[in-house]
Amino acid sequence: MTLQIKTLAQYKEAYQNSVENPEAFWAEQAETFTWKKQWDKTLEWDFKTPDIKWFKGGKLNITENCLDRHLETRGDQTAILWEPNNPANDVISYTYKELHAEVCRAANALKSLGIKKGDRVCFYMPMVTELAIGVLACARIGAIHSVVFAGFSASALADRIKDATCNIVICSDYNSRGAKNIPVKKVVDDALAMGCDSVKTVLAHKNTGGEIAWNKDLDVWWHEALYDQPTHCEAEEMDSEDMLFILYTSGSTGKPKGVVHTCGGYMVYTCFSFRNVFQYQDGDVYWCTADIGWITGHSYIVYGPLLAGATTMMFEGIPTYPDAGRFWEVCDKHKVNQFYTAPTAIRALMAKGDEWVEKYDLSTLKVIGSVGEPINEEAWNWYNEKVGKGNAPIVDTWWQTETGGILITPLPGITDTKPCYASYPMPGVQLVLMDADGNEVEGNGVEGLLCVKFPWPSIIRTTYGDHERCRQVYFSSFENMYFTGDGARRDGDGRYRIIGRVDDVINVSGHRMGTAEVENAINEHPNVVESAVVGFPHEIKGQGIYAYVIPNQSVADEQAFIKEIRKVVAKVIGPIAKPDEVQVVPGLPKTRSGKIMRRILRKVASGDVSNLGDVSTLLNPEIVEAIKEGAK
Ligand code: WT7
Repeated sequence: MTLQIKTLAQYKEAYQNSVENPEAFWAEQAETFTWKKQWDKTLEWDFKTPDIKWFKGGKLNITENCLDRHLETRGDQTAILWEPNNPANDVISYTYKELHAEVCRAANALKSLGIKKGDRVCFYMPMVTELAIGVLACARIGAIHSVVFAGFSASALADRIKDATCNIVICSDYNSRGAKNIPVKKVVDDALAMGCDSVKTVLAHKNTGGEIAWNKDLDVWWHEALYDQPTHCEAEEMDSEDMLFILYTSGSTGKPKGVVHTCGGYMVYTCFSFRNVFQYQDGDVYWCTADIGWITGHSYIVYGPLLAGATTMMFEGIPTYPDAGRFWEVCDKHKVNQFYTAPTAIRALMAKGDEWVEKYDLSTLKVIGSVGEPINEEAWNWYNEKVGKGNAPIVDTWWQTETGGILITPLPGITDTKPCYASYPMPGVQLVLMDADGNEVEGNGVEGLLCVKFPWPSIIRTTYGDHERCRQVYFSSFENMYFTGDGARRDGDGRYRIIGRVDDVINVSGHRMGTAEVENAINEHPNVVESAVVGFPHEIKGQGIYAYVIPNQSVADEQAFIKEIRKVVAKVIGPIAKPDEVQVVPGLPKTRSGKIMRRILRKVASGDVSNLGDVSTLLNPEIVEAIKEGAK
């Protein structure tokens, strides 16, 4: 197993080694895995192009490391523990032996459907065990998975299927979520009707067993495809730098981009970070409440924990069903030791009152984590006192889809914690703060744009089908640096506090959204001339979505129009992107070069119209008054 740091001195030593001799440091970690062939060169990199190769020439299969290598030592230990949406239904669990067999069966089924190494497999599924099994089955045969969160709309799904030219879509019939039974295959059918010509098969998992339409030319049942498949499947030999998966994420411009992670480095870093950030010990039950449709689920429900031989829990449901005690009830029921969730969930549950959390025994919790957005001090304190009871350290983990794994975090019981601070870089992570002119901001007690100046093993390799975009977005702002898009503060002791995005990306309930993407969706409404979307502080969601919309003819019924705007966004992207506020405006404040002055829009959206700064340079300063008056 990779190194598990236990003391502050060890952390300092590991950090120093990782900076002074990164190759030796990571080679030592990589050696703890099963390789089919040893790598020739530990690292080759160039941030200009970018071209990053970790463990060059090495051959491996990540599933041999997630599954096969544990069979002898922990074959009968629970690998995946699945808690249903409805607490009255049965828990499902797979031991490492059973999971290995099931992944092999699914891998053989995919092969018999003609899927081979390098093919792209799209998943559009709720949090069922078949999703984890399917993803691992792809990795087993060298197919590249592209999981799309099942809350996205048909049109968003179609965009992602087309961008990656997926050969197959794997879905469920329905998604049982809270009190709802949400159609899933229907969305896939609708997406395919938008012209996803590359898709030859839809593999449908029967989840709730509701009625679905059946297209006999495309559709195959999961249980029929797996039936009779052997429980052994040779693991495909993959190069360290072969693609493992694509995961779409939003940026400040254009359509979502497919972030690509590769086999070797991702494997080493997710295992290493999992073991250290959560201090997982044999016998522990680890629970991350994320959805596998996001990077958190990829790295810290599936790959990291299984690589480390952990018992990882998957939860089908939502925090408030059947009531606001659900998370804590599950922690109590399964004696959870490490719990990892998002600030938005913490805030929502905090608002429901302490009685829900006080009802349950949370004494098994040793580490509690937070991810996805800044955690405010009030939520941090509540999480610390009410959930952790003051003796389960909070790991406020900062990272991104592009980083593959956690880069900034406290190490529980090892480094100190401070509210609102993601704190310290992981070994191997060389952070820098830059100013807008491209100079490094040195010293402590400073702020700047957060960059990383040396590659860590799970850094993004490319954006699928568009390498230039990857260079432009992440590697062109500052020479020889990976730019995160976040601003950060370094305090007097060298801890980092993430301030938030400095680009046109907003973070709504931990979901990343490009303002341009939401604007494009709004503009699909036939009565919209132009729109501008900004984030505003939202008590539960962290940020809410505020849309300014110019209609092309006078809108008679403003309320109905606003409803339609929200509907069109749900249709084009998904319900998670629906604006919280829509303000109908006669125009947008623009600079003389025609750029929207977002600074003004953000201020108005945040409810602060007092001091909008100098507006005299605007092309249309008069519009500001109208916007102020109509503010929500
Ligand atoms: C953006 C990345 C990392 C998995 C989930 C989100 C924000 C993430 C934190 C944190 C403050 C955070 C950043 C980042 N973010 N974690 N602990 N504190 N902000 O992944 O969708 O790729 O979003 O989420 O702004 O850039 P993602």
